[in-house]
Amino acid sequence: MSFAATTMLYFLLFTFIYLLFKLFLHPKQNTINHKKPPGPPTLPIIGNLHMLGKLPHRTLQSLSKRYGPIMSLQLGQVPTIVISSSKGAESFLKTHDIVFASRPKIQGSELMSYGSKGLPFSEYGPYWRSMRKFCTLKLLSASKVEKSGPIRKEELGVLVNTLKKASLVGEVVNVSEIVENLIEDIVYKMILGRGKYEQFDLKKMIKDGLTLMGAFNLADYVPWLGIFDLQGLTQACKKTSKALDEVLEMIITEHEQTTNTDDPKDFVDTVLSIMHQTIDVEGGQDLVIDRTIIKAILLDMIGASIDTSSNVIEWALSELLRHPRVMKILQDEIQNEVGNKRMVEEKDLKNFNYLDMVVDETLRLYPVAPLLIPRECRENITIDDYSIKEKTRVIVNAWAIGRDPDVWSENAEEFYPERFIEKKMNYLGQEFESIPFGSGRRRCPGIQLGMITVKLVIAQFVHCFNWELPHNISPSNLNMEEKFGLTIPRAQHLHAIPSYRLDDAKLE
Ligand code: HEM
Ligand SMILES: *[C@@H]1O[C@H](CO)[C@@H](O)[C@H](O)[C@H]1NC(C)=O
Ligand SMILES: *[C@@H]1O[C@H](CO)[C@@H](O)[C@H](O)[C@H]1NC(C)=O
Repeated sequence: MSFAATTMLYFLLFTFIYLLFKLFLHPKQNTINHKKPPGPPTLPIIGNLHMLGKLPHRTLQSLSKRYGPIMSLQLGQVPTIVISSSKGAESFLKTHDIVFASRPKIQGSELMSYGSKGLPFSEYGPYWRSMRKFCTLKLLSASKVEKSGPIRKEELGVLVNTLKKASLVGEVVNVSEIVENLIEDIVYKMILGRGKYEQFDLKKMIKDGLTLMGAFNLADYVPWLGIFDLQGLTQACKKTSKALDEVLEMIITEHEQTTNTDDPKDFVDTVLSIMHQTIDVEGGQDLVIDRTIIKAILLDMIGASIDTSSNVIEWALSELLRHPRVMKILQDEIQNEVGNKRMVEEKDLKNFNYLDMVVDETLRLYPVAPLLIPRECRENITIDDYSIKEKTRVIVNAWAIGRDPDVWSENAEEFYPERFIEKKMNYLGQEFESIPFGSGRRRCPGIQLGMITVKLVIAQFVHCFNWELPHNISPSNLNMEEKFGLTIPRAQHLHAIPSYRLDDAKLE
């Protein structure tokens, strides 16, 4: 039975029970007016859950046009606020950052991320703070990102050679596939110090995991209904979690056998070196870093880096294919700088202004985490005369913010990089017109790594090759639909035909 049908059935049944309950058992609630932000009418039990649909970022955008940029929703038992304007985002993520710096516990991360012990879903507090510091320092700092440059260069070099061969025979290439494999290889080399495991499809497990974590799971909103697992999500989370655990065990065991932790060679070694250390947790308790914590951290770092960068690259290449004008300007910019006899190097990137604009424009239209990662309010607070209760969930619709016509003018839906000519973005928490990396204390710590990867791959792809869509697709009818999860990948995979355009057209 579809989710909608099941929900309907249960809804009818429970409305009845609910009304009885309300009438006979519940004293009339006193109505001291705590003003809530406006929002759509709710149904008993499920509140507004039934309204979200297949693409919640789009549904929430249209609801916010009606109810306003700070909107209340009732998701089952969870009061929720949805922010859909840059002004609202600034108020919640900057002015009141610390109040909204926690994450709700959701079943997906409880089951798959070892009790929400990874970075993205751990609650605000000393554990999160020290793990974030650790990961930033050991993997994501500017110097670590620079040190991993040779990995990116090598993997990209291998791919360019493969594509050269494809280009000789005019082959149609599954761009989604090669991009995802490339990013996967780069991330594994950085974090695991090795290539893919042939016996596991880790990338697929992570994709499934991200879809599950993005899903609006009844178990998170109506716990007593969650027991029935009507959407099958609990089952799916458990299954994915089990598969992931096997891979992580293998990764850790392999590292334990081969390395000494005084001389860490990759991020797994580094994480293993803090095994058994303790973290001061407020309230006098110490937390010992055990194997499950190590697994949670590793899993979430891999998860956070794989799907994000590849999504941005796929969307950017899709838009470039739809806009030959933009493609040409970008190729000219790169060629003017590096000529047509060599590949792009990371050190060239700082000279590519137009590339920056192309990437900013892609992130504006396709913020890969369209609703960021949910926040949870840590205390009772009044903002703009609205009183917001502790534990209220806050969803920031980054997707809607990037497409707000009041900020981005009538052509907000159009891919037009030139809009960034006068507007340099740095995503460090000063601009709120486009917030693909979130903002405040919970902002993405992988911006530098993500950006350098995305920019290098795009630059290399368009510098080394001209790209054409397969013969049955024209730029104007390339399907640009998205799928919803914690991230928004393309609904249809991108295919294109490369032709090599550098001067050394022979194969090494
Ligand atoms: C271009 C690619 C990327 C985009 C668009 C992106 C976007 C985001 C967003 C929107 C959030 C939520 C922020 C919030 O709640 O305000 C986030 C969190 C996070 N990202 Fe990224 N990300 C990218 C790449 C990466 C990479 C390469 C890593 C490396 C491991 C990474 C690691 C994380 C982590 C650990 C968090 C959780 C932070 C926390 O809760 O404290 N991201 N990212
Ligand atoms: C293209 O690649 C994707 C992602 O790896 C894969 O799921 C899909 O089946 C591929 N499409 C074709 C036609 O091979
Ligand atoms: C928030 O308000 C509720 C009542 O509206 C109260 O029960 C709760 O203790 C308050 N929380 C804090 C942290 O003050």
